[in-house]
Amino acid sequence: MTQDEMKKAAALKALEFIKPDTIVGVGTGSTVNHFIDALASMKNQIVGAVSSSDASTKLLEQHGIEVFDLNSVDTLDVYVDGADEITEHFAMIKGGGAALTREKIVAAVAKEFICIADSSKQVDILGDFPLPVEVIPMARSYVARELVKLGGDPVYREGVVTDNGNVILDVHNLKIIDPKQLEVDINAIVGVVTNGLFACRGANTLILGTPEGAKVIG
Ligand code: 5RP
Repeated sequence: MTQDEMKKAAALKALEFIKPDTIVGVGTGSTVNHFIDALASMKNQIVGAVSSSDASTKLLEQHGIEVFDLNSVDTLDVYVDGADEITEHFAMIKGGGAALTREKIVAAVAKEFICIADSSKQVDILGDFPLPVEVIPMARSYVARELVKLGGDPVYREGVVTDNGNVILDVHNLKIIDPKQLEVDINAIVGVVTNGLFACRGANTLILGTPEGAKVIG
């Protein structure tokens, strides 16, 4: 199985977690794109979706799935999203697609975070994947200096503007022993919108695409 086939296997399995007559929280990325394609097959059984990015909104609407403003929704049963890295404790690095802030907001509203990922995303310790940090543009250099003090090597993701009009610093070489604490510490830097550590609110369930098919963990 290719990596993309494993992503697709995980995405298809996630359909089993979608309850009829609900609004579904939808993440961003290539794994989620498979999920959106699959969700279209049951679009008449759901009310619609809340989306975490302009890209996912576009794909959902192309499939005829209604996209609701999060402000009009009190709660979501399920949020389905991918990850760049995930540990056995279901802490994650996300934001490879620069959608981390809206992803974190929609995830906060959901009762259950279902992570769909291929098996290459499973790690013992987070940090080989550079940690994305969304930053208000005028604070970029200041935040970069503060991130160096935390032991990282921030790199400006050139040419990328987030859906919120901000920039991304990708922080290399962090040793993320305590992901919850680092998530809090980075978010405390003035000018940071949020960072791609999803540890304080990690996933509840992992659907892992493996060469043997999709496995539900947790
Ligand atoms: C986007 C994300 C994605 O979930 C993450 O980058 C994984 O992407 P993919 O499914 O393409 O491997 O956090 O901001």
